[in-house]
Amino acid sequence: MSDSETNTRTRAHALPGAHWPTRDEASASLLFQPGRIGARTARTRTWVPAMVPWRASDEGFVTPDVRDWYRRFADGQPGVLVLEATGIRDVPSGPLLRIGHERFVPGLRELASDVREHSQGRTLSLVQIIDFLAVRRRPEKEKFVQRFLELTRAHRDGLERLGRVEAARGDEASVRRALLELPHDELLGVLAPREREALEFGYRERVGDLHLAHVRELPRSLPSLFADAAARAREAGFDGVELHYAHAYTMASFLSRTNDRDDGYGGSPQARVRLPLEIFEAVRRQVGADFLVGCRFLGDEVIEGGSRIDDACFYAEQFARAGMDFLSLSKGGKFDDAKQPKVGAAVYPYTGPSGQECMPTVRIDDARDPASRGPFGRNLGLARAVRERVRAAGFETPVVGAGGIGTFGLAESALREGDCDFVAAARQSLADPEWWRKIEEGRGAEVRRCEFTNYCEGLDQQHKQVTCKLWDRDFDTPLPWPSATGATLPLSHDGKRRLIAP
Ligand SMILES: Cc1cc2nc3c(=O)[nH]c(=O)nc-3n(C[C@H](O)[C@H](O)[C@H](O)COP(=O)(O)O)c2cc1C
Ligand code: SF4
Repeated sequence: MSDSETNTRTRAHALPGAHWPTRDEASASLLFQPGRIGARTARTRTWVPAMVPWRASDEGFVTPDVRDWYRRFADGQPGVLVLEATGIRDVPSGPLLRIGHERFVPGLRELASDVREHSQGRTLSLVQIIDFLAVRRRPEKEKFVQRFLELTRAHRDGLERLGRVEAARGDEASVRRALLELPHDELLGVLAPREREALEFGYRERVGDLHLAHVRELPRSLPSLFADAAARAREAGFDGVELHYAHAYTMASFLSRTNDRDDGYGGSPQARVRLPLEIFEAVRRQVGADFLVGCRFLGDEVIEGGSRIDDACFYAEQFARAGMDFLSLSKGGKFDDAKQPKVGAAVYPYTGPSGQECMPTVRIDDARDPASRGPFGRNLGLARAVRERVRAAGFETPVVGAGGIGTFGLAESALREGDCDFVAAARQSLADPEWWRKIEEGRGAEVRRCEFTNYCEGLDQQHKQVTCKLWDRDFDTPLPWPSATGATLPLSHDGKRRLIAP
């Protein structure tokens, strides 16, 4: 259960009433009109954004569970289906999909073909390609002080200030012992800010860590890593890639106002957007004009000192000018304000205020407050501002809006009001992967509606296979087709939940 579900101080917003259109009304709606994206045309303006389901193998390969997961979304025949964040490097990253080597292509090819088959060729499929920097688990204090902490003059000075003169002047072992004996607050006072963070939250690299060669070299290494990954997505038969420039990951950190690199890739807005543009250009050169390339980035980082909508509008104009095929907006989801993890766990970027804005629940703000907007369409204003800026600059680049969309009415009005050109729904599509199709066929009354209370996000946080509370205990409804796993009903590792929506 997520914090938002247990929080009783705020009053939850009620789900908005839903009017479901008839088949004729649906076919006359904007939502079900074709939408141009670069050299391609999506059949409708419906979009399933990236969602990590924790179903890849530990080596990052496509598994039968991954295939079932995407087949189910493809059954809903959205205009566009974006595959989960998929790692571009050839390094272990747990059960997250990877595309950092040729050996991943055969599995991905099966996946692309599953999507084509299950959507009856009606869905464009994109791979979200991602790079991330090292994030370690929160260490035990003893281990941190004895093994990880690199002793400096500052630690000895700190001990001296606290009257531990003899230990401070002793050998390394005596300094470490004395540090460990300090009351916790005093120890924190002796540590530098980044050391404090490494102890309290777990060590985390930053794009500004120019003393680390691999971080300094990111502007040289990343363009070809992204370009090669995109080429593999193309080889596997996908229609395009979404460059992951959002949330807590490397490229969002380059775009962030907090990026203080002094090598021409940080500081001013022009310098912050430089690497994202260079990566796009490298990708485009490699895959050609007919393969879709766009990005997902933040309309607002929602952290102190972070980028705001003005920055996002500036970036969007640069991306459009460079020739990106689409711009998908998200919000928040940063490490900077995340809650402290338990010892042995890694910090999760969706636990602080910025994370709550990224996947807003019905308790995002108190329903009794007249100014409260609740989660429904909450982030569309960001998409609208970006879209207006891009149009004013003379570009037709489509903009994708997301956040708390779970009704036809809201999706249609977002298009009608000019908030966005494509409507993305993540959690509603998880609750009912066929929801877009049901609406289109005039069967909206059959839609299983998302409650926006984030049980799914709680599973993601624990790195457990993601399911929806509305269907994961339904053991009676069979799968609509034979599972790729061979099981009649694939279950989670603990055998307690069904893995694929009924
Ligand atoms: C389980 C889960 C996994 C997610 N994984 C990703 C991801 O890999 N990449 C990404 O850009 N967003 C990811 N998101 C965020 C969603 O794409 C979406 O932006 C967010 O949930 C808000 O949209 P919604 O209100 O329609 O759910 C994830 C969301 C959920 C619930
Ligand atoms: S998708 Fe399911 S689990 Fe996730 S918020 Fe919606 S109803 Fe809850």
